[in-house]
Amino acid sequence: MRSNLDTSSLKYSMKESRQYYDAIQKMWDEFAKVNYQSEVYQTKEFLKGKTSLNSIELDELGKFVKGKSLLHLQCHFGLDTLSWARQGAKVTGVDISGKAINLARQLAKNAKIEATFVESNIYDLPKNLDEKYDIVFTSYGVLCWLNDLKRWAEIIAQFLKLGGIFYIAEFHRFIWVFDWDDPNDFVLKNNYFHDPEPIGYTVSGSFADGNKTTEKLDGYEWSHSLSDVINSIISAGLQIKFFNEFSKAPFQRFPFLKKSVDGYWRYDHSEIQLPLVFTLMAKKEE
Ligand SMILES: C[S@@+](CC[C@H](N)C(=O)[O-])C[C@H]1O[C@@H](n2cnc3c(N)ncnc32)[C@H](O)[C@@H]1O
Repeated sequence: MRSNLDTSSLKYSMKESRQYYDAIQKMWDEFAKVNYQSEVYQTKEFLKGKTSLNSIELDELGKFVKGKSLLHLQCHFGLDTLSWARQGAKVTGVDISGKAINLARQLAKNAKIEATFVESNIYDLPKNLDEKYDIVFTSYGVLCWLNDLKRWAEIIAQFLKLGGIFYIAEFHRFIWVFDWDDPNDFVLKNNYFHDPEPIGYTVSGSFADGNKTTEKLDGYEWSHSLSDVINSIISAGLQIKFFNEFSKAPFQRFPFLKKSVDGYWRYDHSEIQLPLVFTLMAKKEE
């Protein structure tokens, strides 16, 4: 299997990628405002006490969080961060979007939950945060905005205490390979493996914004193969405890997915299941 982790991703310096991060930040500033109000994110239900966490991460990570310090990377406007606080964690959320962080602080106040929120690009976090955590958590729609997974994993390792755990639940990159406009006609669209140059596009709203209500925004995404994710964690010195793949997703990331009675979205086929989500837990051994 081809893995670009130690070659192409490193050729791409942070300096060169700043222009992309400025655009990504602008996009998420706009999306944060719309997502906060959207049906998909269910902010009102959260304020009435509903958790935003899914059974996948609750089953795999839930038992570890009570009384622990938890750093949530790419926390958006803080729903999951604050849901982990309701599970007993002492939480800190980080996001590149200042608008998302302001909304997160407001949400914490409205929900009467104690939490710290930090506006920062993950790659700048060592300059902006000086603590170590029992748990580093990140989930659903995070890796595609990052150009360098090797550095990402080093930063995760840096913020973990000895004995601390890293957990990720993320959409599986496999399905991005195809153009899903017509689910009966599988046309190849994107490279599964990492390219240093991001895929660029223009959007007028997030996946949660059905009516696409924002101004036209530039988006940039990078693909990362599973071997890149796993090898970056290993290279950073963390011990992988488990790696799982799921044929269900908590959000309808593609129109062809159908909602099942358990609330998860699946590829509707009698025999074929597609990998839609993966999870990984790793430990910083003492
Ligand atoms: C899909 S959202 C977060 C996922 C979360 N599960 C959710 O849906 O609320 C992706 C988040 O990543 C943030 N982000 C993108 N690139 C980032 C970076 N380099 N550093 C920190 N946050 C970043 C965006 O601002 C956005 O809030």
